[in-house]
Amino acid sequence: MNGRCTIILAAGQGTRMKSALPKVLHRVAGVAMVHWSIEAALAAGSDDVVLVVGHGREAVAEAVTARFGERVRFAVQTEQRGTADAVRAGMTEVPATATEVLITYGDVPCVPAEALRQLIEARARSGAPLAMITTEVSDPTGYGRVLRDEAGAIRAIREHKDCSPDERAVRCVNPGLYVAGREFLAGSLGKIGSTNAQGEFYLTDLVEIAASAGGVGELAWEPISLRGVNDRAELAATEAYLWQRIADGHRRAGSTVAPGVCIDRDVTIEAGVTIGPNVVLRGATSLGSGTTVDAGCVLEDASIGRDVLLKPYTLVTRCEVHEGAQLGPFAHLRPESVVEAGAHVGNFVELKKTRLGKGAKANHLAYLGDGVVGPKANIGAGTIFCNYDGFRKHVTTIEEGAFIGSNSSLVAPVTIGKNSYVGSGSVVTRDVPEDALAIGRAKQENKEGYGKRLRERFAPKR
Ligand code: UD1
Ligand code: CA
Repeated sequence: MNGRCTIILAAGQGTRMKSALPKVLHRVAGVAMVHWSIEAALAAGSDDVVLVVGHGREAVAEAVTARFGERVRFAVQTEQRGTADAVRAGMTEVPATATEVLITYGDVPCVPAEALRQLIEARARSGAPLAMITTEVSDPTGYGRVLRDEAGAIRAIREHKDCSPDERAVRCVNPGLYVAGREFLAGSLGKIGSTNAQGEFYLTDLVEIAASAGGVGELAWEPISLRGVNDRAELAATEAYLWQRIADGHRRAGSTVAPGVCIDRDVTIEAGVTIGPNVVLRGATSLGSGTTVDAGCVLEDASIGRDVLLKPYTLVTRCEVHEGAQLGPFAHLRPESVVEAGAHVGNFVELKKTRLGKGAKANHLAYLGDGVVGPKANIGAGTIFCNYDGFRKHVTTIEEGAFIGSNSSLVAPVTIGKNSYVGSGSVVTRDVPEDALAIGRAKQENKEGYGKRLRERFAPKR
């Protein structure tokens, strides 16, 4: 068995991000940039991942461990003396069983696992001690150039700052992704010095060493998915690219997704979903088949069942919505709410930590906080669950089939019994028994002729 380990370089400061947050923790499509690199390495068949950390290493280690646990180990590079020095630091954590080492960066989130898989194959095919990805770019500024011999075989990488004018014209560049035999790598890193334009230990010197020790395998790849993120403009361009790639994935899997929709990496969508323009799907949101998410909805960690209709501009955060329910337009579901099958939540209705039972309805202008609403109950327009007394939150319970008249205030803790009624405009402070009618409002009084008398008294005399 060929044990494989990936070393991911992520010790750099990322000065151009102009940020206190380490560069690799900036989010791209919902997850930290470095998570993309790690996922790709694992998906490409890496048994272990070593992340070389330096700047902001505590924060980076914490975020990575929270997502990947033991699968990622860390090597510390205290001083950033170049990419070869970083790999040397990483080698101390590569397990003894690894015979092959893949090397990538933590700031290239678009690199697909497929490219790494093919890189590994390219080395296997060539039998070379090292293989690398190469790519053609229109503007090679800043990249290491790929230099070749007369036969076209890779002979060396020359860093931009060390290039002659002729070498600068080369547009085939090094994106920084390699795979090497472990023994070759361990034996060669020590041979790399730092006499160059930047006084750094260049990992790229490895290429020249490999060229004279059995050759360099090559995989040519398109540049768009290999680009790194160095500033926040590149971060935005990268995110736009990934959102597009994610949306296309869902389209090919059988969902209709409008252009410009922002779908994060961890979102899961069954086939047969329809998503309108300007929708934002964040975190671990999931959508069941047949569901429609219309224009402008924002969902975060929302679990949405099948055949749900989310009308425009509905917001859902950390909630469950079951099969056949309808929400919106302009509904607001706050954390820990559950909308059961077939229930309706209409415009300007806010739920917080509230369970709306099967087929229950709250169609207009209501605040339902800390509530338990039974099946088939009807909550009239303007209903408020008065859940907070200034110190603690209390529960409002509405049993099956109850009907709450419009503009009622239900002062929790309170229970409205099964199939009972609450008259419009009531302030309910005591429990209502099953099948009863509660009316808690001032009695209406009609003063006959009062309007006429007022007009006579105040209307200007002619
Ligand atoms: C490197 C390559 C260059 C290639 C380019 C692609 C070298 C010498 N040059 O150049 O050929 O075209 O990447 O983007 O390798 N890092 C560390 N520790 C260090 C130095 C770097 O962890 O001491 C990490 C950085 O955080 C970064 C990555 O390695 O993620 C690349 O470093 P960077 O300084 O951006 O390399 P380049 O000079 O761009
Ligand atoms: Ca770079």
